[in-house]
Amino acid sequence: MELNEERINEIRRSVDIVDIVSEYIPLEQKGRNFFALCPFHDDHNPSLSVSREKQIYKCFVCGASGNVFNFIMDYEGISFIDALKLVANKVGIALDIPKSKVKKTNNVHADMYEIYDLVCKFYQNNLFTESGKEALIYLKDRGFTDDIIKTFDIGLSTNKQITPLLKKKSYSDDLLIQSGVSSYSNNRLHDLFVDRIMFPLYDVEGRVVAFSGRIYKTNDSSKYVNSKESDIFKKGNLLYNYHRAKDECRKKKCVIVVEGFMDVIALYMVGIYNVVASMGTAITKEQALLLKKLSSNVLLCFDGDNAGNKATMSCAKELNDIGIIPKVIRLPENLDPDEFIKKYGKDKFVEYMENPKSLLDYKIDEYKKDTNFNDSASLSNYIRNVTLELQGIDDSIIKEITIKKLSDETNISVATINGMLKSSKKEIINKKKEPYINKYQKAERYLLYYMLRYPEVIKIYEKNRCYFPTKEFRYLVNEILQYYNKSGNLVIADFLTHISDKEEIFNAYKVIDMTHCSEKYTYDEIMDYIETLNEYSIDLEKKRLINEFKKETDSIKKEEILKKVSDLIKMENE
Ligand code: CTP
Ligand code: MN
Repeated sequence: MELNEERINEIRRSVDIVDIVSEYIPLEQKGRNFFALCPFHDDHNPSLSVSREKQIYKCFVCGASGNVFNFIMDYEGISFIDALKLVANKVGIALDIPKSKVKKTNNVHADMYEIYDLVCKFYQNNLFTESGKEALIYLKDRGFTDDIIKTFDIGLSTNKQITPLLKKKSYSDDLLIQSGVSSYSNNRLHDLFVDRIMFPLYDVEGRVVAFSGRIYKTNDSSKYVNSKESDIFKKGNLLYNYHRAKDECRKKKCVIVVEGFMDVIALYMVGIYNVVASMGTAITKEQALLLKKLSSNVLLCFDGDNAGNKATMSCAKELNDIGIIPKVIRLPENLDPDEFIKKYGKDKFVEYMENPKSLLDYKIDEYKKDTNFNDSASLSNYIRNVTLELQGIDDSIIKEITIKKLSDETNISVATINGMLKSSKKEIINKKKEPYINKYQKAERYLLYYMLRYPEVIKIYEKNRCYFPTKEFRYLVNEILQYYNKSGNLVIADFLTHISDKEEIFNAYKVIDMTHCSEKYTYDEIMDYIETLNEYSIDLEKKRLINEFKKETDSIKKEEILKKVSDLIKMENE
């Protein structure tokens, strides 16, 4: 079936944006609209509203807005066509999308993805050759089945190089270096990895963008070596297993974060699939936002050692900054999840998983470990640390329980601890100021705001057309008129489909959507805005004429210009 706009909107109308959005984030109904923590910025209070009536969503704080397709595009980081396919799929419509319609957004790096694809297959093949025997034994020893090896595309690098093969396929030296697959030394281009078990690393869409190679037969000082960062691989922008765990996390309403990809695989082997790995380093803001997309219920399950504690603290901080309070699974005996499961089995792990510590309790336990209860300075430090943590807690019951416990174990009175809590209280007032806009800007925004909501306003405008000073708004108003005249109506959610691939216009729409107007308008008010914009045009024309006048040398022509200016002034005063 042909894929025109009408068909696209038919698909849009066959779902309810409220249902779709609530598959991704919890929505709460308040009055006519639904609200949620906005997944597109560091939201602490629900600022995203979803309208069932209009089939659109909007964040009052960051300005994210659009229809169901825009939501999925932004949330999943996918193209319009892919979002459309996803929605169509949900309602059981098979889409036959012509190639020409598919946007080639990532085409710039297409050859890099291609290279990684080839390299990945090459490594996979190695594993099942004669030279792969030892590596295969290593993997089998660690419990890897053929299925697991296949699922995670695990391979092997040997001294048989892939660089010459890639060169034969006529990829340039530059590209091979840029993509991080090969490097120069001794005037020769060669592979980066030799004799390592190769774990592909994927981007959020599941494309191979790098490798991590593990030693298996030597005693090399570096257990893992990763590909160098490239245009398509930024370690801080991805989480291992994100694309595979995505659906499961949403289904289970929980995401488990571990340190190593070996831990991800170990959990996968026992049937726990909602797991991603941070891969050793401190988590970045981008990774925290990725986690938020999976679930606001985050379980941190880092290694049981000191480094694991540090990682837990820094990850918790990054998550706190975007409004998520993670819970913590702390494994005993310095074990990592993989080792723990080997030693104690799945059931024991599930027990830990189902009884995570609150972040507060976790932190208190960690402080406690460092405290000498017989040393008053150490004890005072402990109490100070705990009261500082309590400041971030809104729940007064949790606060009271914690203070009571603290008092019991330290023999310091509740009153004293409460005193400490108050004295160090800091006020965080974060008032948002509306940016100043002048009367012309206001007029164009308000006009557009009402045109987008009330077709009658479009009609008023059509009879009294005026010039919009801001280029983007000029485009938007033209788009609205064209659309309205073509389809005889303006359903906002459909109009959004229409402008989805027109970035400038879509951004202008978002600005309008963020404008705070009252819902109702009056005819006089609309005419006032049009009047104001006419004033602007007249003013502009006056300025232009005066400039012309200054440059003009011919006195007759000068006279003519003056006449025009005085006409304009008359018009203004009418
Ligand atoms: N890592 C790395 N370079 C290293 C060591 C670790 O990039 N030299 C990253 C890897 O992504 C690894 C994660 O940090 O997955 C966790 O490291 P570690 O706990 O040392 O590895 P394990 O997952 O325990 O791996 P294994 O069980 O194979 O020892
Ligand atoms: Mn391990």
